[in-house]
Amino acid sequence: MPTASPRPTPPLPADPHSYAQGPALPHLRLALAVDFGQQTLAGSATWLLAELLATATPLVLDTRDLTIGQVVALDSKAARAGLASAGTAIPYTLTAPDAVLGQALRLELPAGTQAVRIDYRTSPGAAALQWLAPAQTAGTHPFLFTQSQAILARTWLPCPDSPGRRFTYEAEVEVLGSERGQLLALMSADNPQTTAPDGRYHFRQPQPVPAYLLALAVGRLDFAPLGDHTGIYAEPTTLLRASYEFAALDRMVAAAEQLYGPYRWGRYDLLALPASFPFGGMENPCITFVTPTILAGDRSLTSLVAHELAHSWSGNLVTNATWNDFWLNEGFTVYFERRIMEQLYGRPYAEMLQVLGEADLHHTMQELGPTSPATHLRLHLAGRDPDDGLNDIAYEKGCLLLLTLEQLVGRPRLDAFITEYFARFAFQSMDTDRFAAYLTETLLTPAEASQLNLPAWLDGPGLPPGAPVAHSARFDAVAAALARLATGTAPIALQPITTEWSSQEWEHFLRGLPPTLTATNLGRLDEAFHFTTSGNAELLAAWFPLALRAGYAPADAALENFLRYVGRRKFLVPLYRALLAAPGGRARAQETYRLARPNYHSVATNTLDALVLGEAH
Ligand code: BES
Ligand code: ZN
Repeated sequence: MPTASPRPTPPLPADPHSYAQGPALPHLRLALAVDFGQQTLAGSATWLLAELLATATPLVLDTRDLTIGQVVALDSKAARAGLASAGTAIPYTLTAPDAVLGQALRLELPAGTQAVRIDYRTSPGAAALQWLAPAQTAGTHPFLFTQSQAILARTWLPCPDSPGRRFTYEAEVEVLGSERGQLLALMSADNPQTTAPDGRYHFRQPQPVPAYLLALAVGRLDFAPLGDHTGIYAEPTTLLRASYEFAALDRMVAAAEQLYGPYRWGRYDLLALPASFPFGGMENPCITFVTPTILAGDRSLTSLVAHELAHSWSGNLVTNATWNDFWLNEGFTVYFERRIMEQLYGRPYAEMLQVLGEADLHHTMQELGPTSPATHLRLHLAGRDPDDGLNDIAYEKGCLLLLTLEQLVGRPRLDAFITEYFARFAFQSMDTDRFAAYLTETLLTPAEASQLNLPAWLDGPGLPPGAPVAHSARFDAVAAALARLATGTAPIALQPITTEWSSQEWEHFLRGLPPTLTATNLGRLDEAFHFTTSGNAELLAAWFPLALRAGYAPADAALENFLRYVGRRKFLVPLYRALLAAPGGRARAQETYRLARPNYHSVATNTLDALVLGEAH
């Protein structure tokens, strides 16, 4: 171990994306009625203070598009009783709305306050929420889900909406209307496994979490156990497929615990959402939300679940202090995800994931440019919507930093370091400077530190020299097949060597096809390998741009279908781009978008409005 002189721990930075200020708020009591008719959540958020206030104290919370009713200060007796009638109404102000940050809710809490209750309702356009009509689900009932990361929790409750502020919570959720008794409510907490006939649910999250990990879903959902502490929620017609797909969930949790220490959140369940879910996955504590587009039928896309599971340590235990430190969440998680997959499926499998990830990284770096500050690990997102500033760099460059450390100190030392890091900083925030100090003090010798050149990784563009480059032997066979195609071999003749290919090999194959292929070429490929009718969303998303570029019309209907049905932004953005670039594509893109837009979550429409409709919108 290096003999470092003890240096003071750098103070945590202020969060440029939160207005929140004032006393610590260690616990939240949420009471919400879910109204599908009005498309609102209405009720109250009661914030408990750590201690009774001795003097009058200002409190500022984040809100966006909320209608605030009464704000009531509660003394310790009223706070304990939790009676709606108790307490004293106090005045409040809301600052002028900012399109990204929303409005600061300012209060002056009187001396003697133990808790503050805010009565409020959400707006039907609340950005975190997506209210789905029955036709937008796999079944015949409406559906609601939230997506709070990065700064959308404030659109469904008044809160300190900063990843650096944590609280435990409990919630009473009541489903209103004729659907009451048919719909199950789930949160990022301990969850029911059966639908309550009276539509009332109670939740408790005993571990302190930041606001971006608050989550709620309400729908016609069934549950199937996968292990003793793991299971899957899905719409009834999806449940069987989903439980087949995620059969390895228990083994994933075991592998993760073996790598980096105990799972600290009780149960680990999955919720397969309707297809409009804007992300692949979201690591909501106790219950990861996933897109149904990973239900490929052959368990080939489950690394995404390993990723969200890994966040139970990197992100949910040790949390990026601000969105500028996003790489600490995602870079560690990608590294951890691939370690889990290696443990379960072997090194050659993990190598394929790594090569595909590095290809994504180089693609993103090319798009951003060799000197772009957006390619630094440490970001500077003040004044910007974090949702626009977060990209692949955090994931793949972050992972490469960890792989570089692996190369430098070896796995045993790195693994011990990571395990200790998660234990030492559990339920705390971490920022880039603190991490750098901790790494240099506890892992690296001075010689190793100078070899690593951490500043170049954190605050420099591109990839520093010395970053490892992954190699996949299984992809060598793909390259050989591509080479044969290039020299005139008919696709059908390649069939025998592709029979054992996984989704990853096909992805590598599709990415490696030359952009110059004609519609006739694509027709031959399609005849041999049936891409257009594939049930694998990753392959479809790689195939359609080739089809658009070549004007391969037999894929049109499948593409249209995909865009109308799937709301996952990672797929939509490149597909609409490819569509816009095709001859006559702008009109087609806009017409498709007009029809599909009602099916997309705000996270997706925010990006796509600008892309498809132009900046004016
Ligand atoms: N936490 C992220 C999703 C996210 C990031 C939401 C930033 C909002 C803002 C999640 O863990 C994630 O990274 N999902 C990826 C899948 C993963 C396998 C790379 C996704 O949704 O594509
Ligand atoms: Zn992630």
